[in-house]
Amino acid sequence: MTGRAGQSVEPGLFVTIEGGDGAGKSTQAALLEEWLVASGRTVVRTREPGGTDFGLEVREIVLHSRGHITPRAEALLYAADRAQHIATKVRPALDRGEVVIQDRYIDSSVAYQGAGRVLDGAEIRRLSEWATEDLVPDLTVLIDLDESLARERLNSAQKRFDRLEAEKNEFHRRVRESFLSIAKAEPERFVVVDGALSPAEISARIRHRLTPLLVSPAR
Ligand code: TYD
Repeated sequence: MTGRAGQSVEPGLFVTIEGGDGAGKSTQAALLEEWLVASGRTVVRTREPGGTDFGLEVREIVLHSRGHITPRAEALLYAADRAQHIATKVRPALDRGEVVIQDRYIDSSVAYQGAGRVLDGAEIRRLSEWATEDLVPDLTVLIDLDESLARERLNSAQKRFDRLEAEKNEFHRRVRESFLSIAKAEPERFVVVDGALSPAEISARIRHRLTPLLVSPAR
C-alpha cells in the first residue's frame, strides 16, 4: 500500500480503530470524537460493516444470516460494504478536510477473514485495496486485549453474539495475533494500546500519538 503522507491527496485525517470483539473500540471512538470536537475539528464517526444504508443491509447478512456463508463469500461481503463506504462517505469527508474516526477497516478483514477463516491474508488485503482504491489510514489504533478477557466482557454485557463473536476462543486468538503482527510490520501507521488499561488511560495514549498529526501543516 502506498501511504498518503506528504502526498496531500486529501486534506483530512483518517483514523481507524481496530481490535477484537470486546476490546473497547466504541468507547475509545466516542472519547476521541469528544476531544477532537472540543478542539474545533469536524469529525465523522463511522464504522464497518454498516457505515452506509447499503452497508447496513450487508451488515445484517454478514452478521446475522442463519445459513452458512463460505469464507470467500464473507470476505467479498465485507469488501463490498467497504467499497461503498469509502467512496460515498469517507473520501468525501476527507476531501472536506474533516477527521474520520472509523471503527474497523481493512486490518479487520486481514485478521478475521485471513487469520480467522484461514484465507490468504495478502489476497484479502489486495481485495480491500482494490475496493477502496488504496485508501490508507493516517493512523490506526490497535486496542489489544487477551481474547479470554474480551470474551468475559462480552458475556457480562449479555448481548446476543453475532456470527463472528460466536466463534470459539481459538478463532479469536488467531485474530488477536494477526492484528499484532500487522501492527508490528507497520509501526509508523499503528499505535498499539493495552486494552486492559482504564478507558481514560487508553484515551490519553491515543491522543498523545494523534496530536502531532493534527498540527501537521500538510493538513
Ligand atoms: P463490530 O461492528 O465491531 O461488532 P459490534 O457492533 O458487535 O461491536 O464488528 C462486527 C463483526 O464483524 C466483528 O465480529 C468483526 C467482524 N468483521 C470482520 O470479520 N471483517 C471485517 O472486515 C470487519 C470490518 C468486521
